[in-house]
Amino acid sequence: MAVERIGVSLEGRLLSDFDRFVTTEGYGSRSEALRGLIREALTHRRWKAGGRVVGTITIVYRHEVGMVTHRLLHRQHEFLRFIRATAHTHLDDETCLEVLLVDGASDRIEQLGRRLKTVKGVLSSETVIASAKLR
Ligand code: NI
Repeated sequence: MAVERIGVSLEGRLLSDFDRFVTTEGYGSRSEALRGLIREALTHRRWKAGGRVVGTITIVYRHEVGMVTHRLLHRQHEFLRFIRATAHTHLDDETCLEVLLVDGASDRIEQLGRRLKTVKGVLSSETVIASAKLR
């Protein structure tokens, strides 16, 4: 893909803040940092606009609480088409970590994240959108 150069004008304060950001975040250059920020902003926009996104939903839960495992599975089955894979590991005697690889309409992914978060016994549930702008 062809790369085009663009010029960006920044006032002194914003530029020094940006340079500090480039360093603390560990970017190799200003350009790399800008690309990252632009991608992030566009992904966020797409996520809000309702397009197709891919990402993960990470949940931590206490498997002994009520019917939590059963409920989590039941709710995942309602979103069959949007879950590509899951991984599960046991953190200790009572706590489980599960990651869902998700792919689909952003509103449905968001809904799935909420449905899992509200199951009793779930300690945390976080949805992370890795990328948007997919066909
Ligand atoms: Ni487990």
